[in-house]
Amino acid sequence: MKRTEISSLLQSRDFGSEVIVQGWVRTKRGSKNVAFIALNDGSTINNVQVVVDVDDITSSILEKVHTGAALTIVGELVESSGSGQNVEVHAKTIEILGMSNPDEYPLQPKKHSLEFLREKAHLRYRTNTFAAIARIRHNMIFAIHKFFHDRGFYNIHSPILTGSDAEGAGEMFQVTTLELENIPKNNDGKVDFSKDFFGKAANLTVSGQLEAELAALALSKVYTFGPTFRAENSNTARHLAEFWMIEPEFAFGDIVDDMDLAEDMLKYVIGYALDHCMEDLAFLSNRLTNEEKNKKADERSMELIEKLKFVLDQPFERLTYTEAIEILKNSKPNKKKKFQFVIDGWGADLQSEHERYLVEKHFKKPVILTDYPASIKAFYMKQNDDGKTVRAMDILFPQIGEIIGGSQREEDYEKLSRRMVEMDIPEESMWWYLETRKFGTVPHAGFGLGFERLILFITGMGNIRDVIPFPRTPMNLEF
Ligand code: 4AD
Ligand code: MG
Repeated sequence: MKRTEISSLLQSRDFGSEVIVQGWVRTKRGSKNVAFIALNDGSTINNVQVVVDVDDITSSILEKVHTGAALTIVGELVESSGSGQNVEVHAKTIEILGMSNPDEYPLQPKKHSLEFLREKAHLRYRTNTFAAIARIRHNMIFAIHKFFHDRGFYNIHSPILTGSDAEGAGEMFQVTTLELENIPKNNDGKVDFSKDFFGKAANLTVSGQLEAELAALALSKVYTFGPTFRAENSNTARHLAEFWMIEPEFAFGDIVDDMDLAEDMLKYVIGYALDHCMEDLAFLSNRLTNEEKNKKADERSMELIEKLKFVLDQPFERLTYTEAIEILKNSKPNKKKKFQFVIDGWGADLQSEHERYLVEKHFKKPVILTDYPASIKAFYMKQNDDGKTVRAMDILFPQIGEIIGGSQREEDYEKLSRRMVEMDIPEESMWWYLETRKFGTVPHAGFGLGFERLILFITGMGNIRDVIPFPRTPMNLEF
């Protein structure tokens, strides 16, 4: 006989049948005659209640059953009279697979702070919050693949080790096999990378876009979904040094197609979460409501499920960077100097406080900003005829700020190569990228979705460190 997962056990109405359940103890309580064990196996947020009649044999086992222990229960499935559950298991035998010393096990059956749990990242999957997030993450990965697959996009594996800097931002982790105590130098005192593993400097990728473009210029519609590394020393609630990015790229399309695709994708995956993750979302919604109960009414976030539905129902607001700057310049927080970075004119890079003002206060819905100044965007974006803006598009979400960054790409060889010179992008390391503009170049576009920022939004969590199992941030690499 095989074990029945708790998710299907709780749906079963096969009362009287014998079942095997296995899982970890969340709580144990009871009296002299009967004990109740709440068991969870991760297949659902819900526990199954195991009822044990206390006798000479079971009492000696029960003494050793504590929160965190792993058990195998053989018992009978019984209709439950308790509230909040339809079934329970009346145990015939209990076997302890793995004991858990209650004096040492850090997860007590009470509420722990998220900060505390970050220090117990090896065990935090065993809490309702982190198991719910893990299940939602899985469903979102699946939904993203399904969305693109159903629309004829091919998944491409872009390399993790690269010799180029896709974003031209220079915030890369270097990869080397050179002996750090004894680094070979050239005559000019610089590191001699010809002696390194690849014979040149290597990095962890900051984006799979450039390789996705190569693929899109043959397969038409592709997307990557891979790990991305950024050595930004920013300790914010929205930045990770290692995060996952989804980067679709398609030929024969422009920035409007790009915006349409991005909006469709976000709505599809949010709808998928509502259709497939309701129990976990309901739990996270309660968590958020409790967390915020001491806040003033106007500082509270919208109820989680309502917020997700709200995004589905709204067309995103689309406007240009230039229009957004006008709104921000004339906004109350700007005039009263409430913004940390006051907007004094065109050309300023938008900070998340500005993005959130536009979304949360001004438009009260997701916003797509387009046509940013070329000076604050990457070299590959398509240049507009005005000579100063590029065909970029960023999608801004409540609480998150930028969730997607994308653009139509510069397909003109001359314009692209001029821009690379202006921005000091060495042609000798990027000749292969430029060459696609020589042979059958076509209009094309794409975007990057930060997967953890999506998960932040969907789960209502406040810190990106809590939506990836093992966050990598400055000075943090324990697990
Ligand atoms: O705006 P970014 O830097 O765009 C690119 O990398 C382009 N190559 C994408 C493309 O057009 N194919 O990053 C895209 C998204 C951001 O909007 C944000 O959601 C996320 O990646 N992101 C981060 N997420 C977590 N931690 C970080 N340090 C992030 N940096 C960017
Ligand atoms: Mg960006």
